[in-house]
Amino acid sequence: MIEDDPRWASLFSPDLFAGKTVFVTGGGSGINFGIARGFAGLGANVAICGRDRTKLDAAVAALRALGAQAAGFQADVRDKEAVDVALQSSGEQFGPVDVLVCGAAGNFICPAEDLSSNGFRAVVDIDLVGSFHAAHAAFAQLKSTRGSILFISAGQAFQPFVHQVHVGAAKAGIDNMMRNLAYEWGRFGIRSNSIAPGFIADTEGTRRMAADGLADRLREATPLGRLGSVDDIAAMALFLASPLAAYVTGGVFVVDGGHYLGGSGLFRSHIHQREPAG
Ligand code: COA
Repeated sequence: MIEDDPRWASLFSPDLFAGKTVFVTGGGSGINFGIARGFAGLGANVAICGRDRTKLDAAVAALRALGAQAAGFQADVRDKEAVDVALQSSGEQFGPVDVLVCGAAGNFICPAEDLSSNGFRAVVDIDLVGSFHAAHAAFAQLKSTRGSILFISAGQAFQPFVHQVHVGAAKAGIDNMMRNLAYEWGRFGIRSNSIAPGFIADTEGTRRMAADGLADRLREATPLGRLGSVDDIAAMALFLASPLAAYVTGGVFVVDGGHYLGGSGLFRSHIHQREPAG
């Protein structure tokens, strides 16, 4: 919870998103589920998509337990047709989407020289191409609602990280696409922004990035002295999607406790300690 205050969501009006439709790719777990939960708690109808039916079902049950109308659509964001069908089904069930969250992502640590073409492409396809698929599929609905797109970026987009060349390329591409869409679709009233989370506790991304005790060192190296929570990210998403941000488009919003200010050297030294140069 934000600063251990479980009441953080009450700082927003409880019906802020009543009658609104929110679609979250990769919404079955982690940061994306946290964002979906944030919107559900403020009255939105929430559609999520992902690859794993079991995960989707569990997430939908949790969103419904908050009193939201929710549905899960099985779709791999790499499959444009499946994404089109998911957005169409969500539109039929809940009405046109007001907020699209492009969050589906993949990550693993791999030295650039060992990364296969397929490995590089897998992450670019999921993160970058998948985000384009969702934005493209949602365009007509977003145009009708004068809606908002939130892309989930990362520090790798603007800072080099060792063994993350694939992720950096994908996330930098996302931020560039975000700015292009903000520029091109602004005339339809569609806003487009990125959130760049830092290391977020209890997520698959941080489990993959910060194994072997690195999480504790990252916590110490973060100016605000802790890892992030999924609620920290949800709070930014709620703000950016709300009327409070009606004039905000084309921005990358870093939510990382100031971690990026110190660079990625700690991550680099940790990785290289584990795998010294041969
Ligand atoms: N190191 C090096 N290469 C790897 C790898 C690793 N740890 N994991 C996968 N790859 C490579 C595979 O070898 C394959 O390339 P190849 O055909 O040349 O061998 C390519 O990536 C695709 O792997 P595959 O497992 O077939 O892809 P997938 O579509 O099933 O999975 C991933 C996509 C790889 C991104 C997988 O990690 C994933 O599904 N992640 C989702 C969850 C996640 O990453 N969450 C954190 C988000 S921040």
